[in-house]
Amino acid sequence: MNVLHIDSSILGDQSVSRKVSAAAVASIVAANPGAKVTYRDLDAQPAPHQSGVLMAARALDPAARSADQARDVAHADAVLDEFLAADVVVIGVPMYNFGIPSTLKSWIDHLAVAGKTFSYSEAGVQGLAGGKRIVLASSRGGYYGSESPMASLQHQESYLRGFFGFIGVPDVEVVSAEGVNYGPDHKQKALEGAVAHAASLGRTLQAA
Ligand SMILES: Cc1cc2nc3c(=O)[nH]c(=O)nc-3n(C[C@H](O)[C@H](O)[C@H](O)COP(=O)(O)O)c2cc1C
Repeated sequence: MNVLHIDSSILGDQSVSRKVSAAAVASIVAANPGAKVTYRDLDAQPAPHQSGVLMAARALDPAARSADQARDVAHADAVLDEFLAADVVVIGVPMYNFGIPSTLKSWIDHLAVAGKTFSYSEAGVQGLAGGKRIVLASSRGGYYGSESPMASLQHQESYLRGFFGFIGVPDVEVVSAEGVNYGPDHKQKALEGAVAHAASLGRTLQAA
């Protein structure tokens, strides 16, 4: 089993989502001896933005690329290759300004590649990345349940569910810690609940 572990929090050791994603990966590895884990910390090493500069670098003969251009193209290609090779993808994702961290968005921008992860035809869109399991280890300061007045601002999980559904993975496993900024007790309870949930994933989650 290939496990791809992504973290995107800027809070290092204080991060809730990093603790939850680590618990999920540990549980999956314990249940699948021999699983190979590839780790990317998007805060420490962000993927290059989709940009005119990157697009122009791609259009060049590889031999004509500068060292910076070659590095960025290789980085972006590695992001897609790692994702395609993964059986299980665990993503640590905090809510930032009602959405996802911009570093995670940059990473996602390298996954949406026509002919690799999705295709369009007269019959409509087809996701090509099926056969993987996706786990979101999510954390947010407030509460965004359907009964909450904040529900319409929940563009974190909903965006990721929509994106992965689009590329062929409609069943996303979500482990969330909500309300962590409501006070230390809320944070501790939310963290413990999410870590316990994450630690149970190995028993239930096999590669599709
Ligand atoms: C830059 C930034 C923006 C944030 N924006 C939101 C937000 O829009 N809504 C929310 O509920 N919490 C927000 N928070 C709080 C975080 O979602 C919360 O602290 C969460 O635990 C962060 O995940 P982490 O602990 O893994 O870093 C924000 C935190 C930061 C640092």
